[in-house]
Amino acid sequence: MPSPTRLLALAALLVSATAIVPPSQKGAPNQTPDDFTPPTPDNDLIAQTANQVDQKSAPPVDAPPNADVPPTSVTAIDGTVTNSTIGGVSAGNSTRRRDVGRLGKRQSKFEKIFDGLPADQHDASIQGTAYLTYTVVNNATYNIQACLDWCAGINECVFVNVYYEFNNYLLDFVFGEKSNLKCAAYGDIHTAAEKLNFGGQQSYPQLGNETVPLTYITQSSGWGLSGIKEAVTPDGYDLVFGPTGGANNAPGYMGFAFIDKYDVDACAALCNGRGVDPNGGGCAYFNIWRAVVDGIPTTYTCSMYYLVADESTAVNFGQGSLVVTLSRGYARKSALIDGGFEGYTDCDDFCFTTSYANWIGTSSSGGSLDASIFFYPPYAHTGHGSGLLGSAPGLNNQTGTLKPAQPLTTDAGANYVVQCFMSSAFSGPKIEAAAKVDIMWNGVRVGGTSGFTEYALMEASVVGTGSDELAFVGGASPAWTFIDDCKVYKA
Ligand SMILES: *[C@@H]1O[C@H](CO)[C@@H](O)[C@H](O)[C@H]1NC(C)=O
Ligand SMILES: *[C@@H]1O[C@H](CO)[C@@H](O)[C@H](O)[C@H]1NC(C)=O
Ligand SMILES: *[C@@H]1O[C@H](CO)[C@@H](O)[C@H](O)[C@H]1NC(C)=O
Ligand SMILES: *[C@@H]1O[C@H](CO)[C@@H](O)[C@H](O)[C@H]1NC(C)=O
Ligand SMILES: *[C@@H]1O[C@H](CO)[C@@H](O)[C@H](O)[C@H]1NC(C)=O
Repeated sequence: MPSPTRLLALAALLVSATAIVPPSQKGAPNQTPDDFTPPTPDNDLIAQTANQVDQKSAPPVDAPPNADVPPTSVTAIDGTVTNSTIGGVSAGNSTRRRDVGRLGKRQSKFEKIFDGLPADQHDASIQGTAYLTYTVVNNATYNIQACLDWCAGINECVFVNVYYEFNNYLLDFVFGEKSNLKCAAYGDIHTAAEKLNFGGQQSYPQLGNETVPLTYITQSSGWGLSGIKEAVTPDGYDLVFGPTGGANNAPGYMGFAFIDKYDVDACAALCNGRGVDPNGGGCAYFNIWRAVVDGIPTTYTCSMYYLVADESTAVNFGQGSLVVTLSRGYARKSALIDGGFEGYTDCDDFCFTTSYANWIGTSSSGGSLDASIFFYPPYAHTGHGSGLLGSAPGLNNQTGTLKPAQPLTTDAGANYVVQCFMSSAFSGPKIEAAAKVDIMWNGVRVGGTSGFTEYALMEASVVGTGSDELAFVGGASPAWTFIDDCKVYKA
């Protein structure tokens, strides 16, 4: 005869066993339904901030020629004006790849955008966005060709402003070139309407009470490449649309940054380093566009999203005096195919399987449905598909393994981040306290989850080898764990 204590324990076991209807029988998920509406861009804030930043500049009167082009900087982030590097506003380990061309310009030719005024009149140089650096060219003639040749050797250069600057002491006496014919490089095309720098500065030293001659400018002409409409797709991304005159107004918005030139790579680095949204995960998409205010290039917007958007939502053409131009969308590639289990579509209400084209579930020896894939929206983080670890009918407490049907194709030596939403909530906090799932990369544990949790994002840093085995191992029913919306992004 069993002791009373043992009988009680047995009874408790029966009660808990009958209280929980397992996933295979469509049991309730004990997870607060996500009635969260993914946010869309705050276009008023973007337009307001565009009126606050001043990204227009020209070669400073006292700067030596031939300085290196400074790296792209961030002039505003989420509505706050700043002056930061890309790394300064990014989390994580994003690395810039500076060898990639910004604009496919090698095929294009320069054309004259505007003429200078006659030599005997004072003129003005460009005060515009995306100023890069300047040089001086031999001033024996009005030497346009030397300036264009120099620009062609600078990756970001698509426009030059050529002009004489008089009464600049450094040009006249200090710098070695002994020329006052300035050639200023820009990463965007500018027009005569932006001739706003008239000189008027004191550069010569004050000698006694003599009047110091002020700087002035003559013969300021502008030359641009027609190829500005090209852009090189950044590593780890696919072009989704563009260029068009519409910015995305899409759900899953994570925020925006203004950058000081139209730099698609910089925007990709910001997206990679954006950090994660608790509901949506990492940045999966960005939209880069140029803001033209009253006809003048003003800033370059980089909007980030955790959901991939497309041209159908690129319907923000601007507001007031702000016009959207050169808008392009780029989706971040995931090395993991169908990480949301949406490819399992054997029913339209409730069904489950141990494997399908994209995923394979394996049970422990003697186990039963220890890893499975469900079609059932209430179990999913988003959509209808999710993976389950732990015996779906609750027949044993052995672990299962879910892995992609094919190894992941990666770039050998490159850093990746595995992101996956996991929920160990089905059986309630007490039972799920024992829940545990490991993220395995080529057989090595790199991350995972343990204990009770509603859907939350788990992350793991890994390095690609070219062909990589990803697996999720765990579950011990009734401490089940669901996984969904898994991504493997280049870091
Ligand atoms: C931004 O900061 C850099 C480095 O501190 C500085 O050289 C640059 O002049 C600043 N730009 C503006 C617009 O303040
Ligand atoms: C960032 O880099 C450091 C050192 O290289 C590494 O230990 C860390 O795991 C990386 N973090 C991410 C999120 O990639
Ligand atoms: C060329 O530049 C030098 C140095 O600024 C200046 O002294 C000279 O007058 C310039 N020549 C012409 C033709 O403008
Ligand atoms: C300039 O200085 C000289 C001597 O230093 C003086 O004779 C002359 O009156 C001054 N001129 C003016 C306009 O102040
Ligand atoms: C799994 O079940 C067996 C017997 O059914 C039990 O002995 C064991 O402790 C359980 N393991 C876990 C991790 O719950």
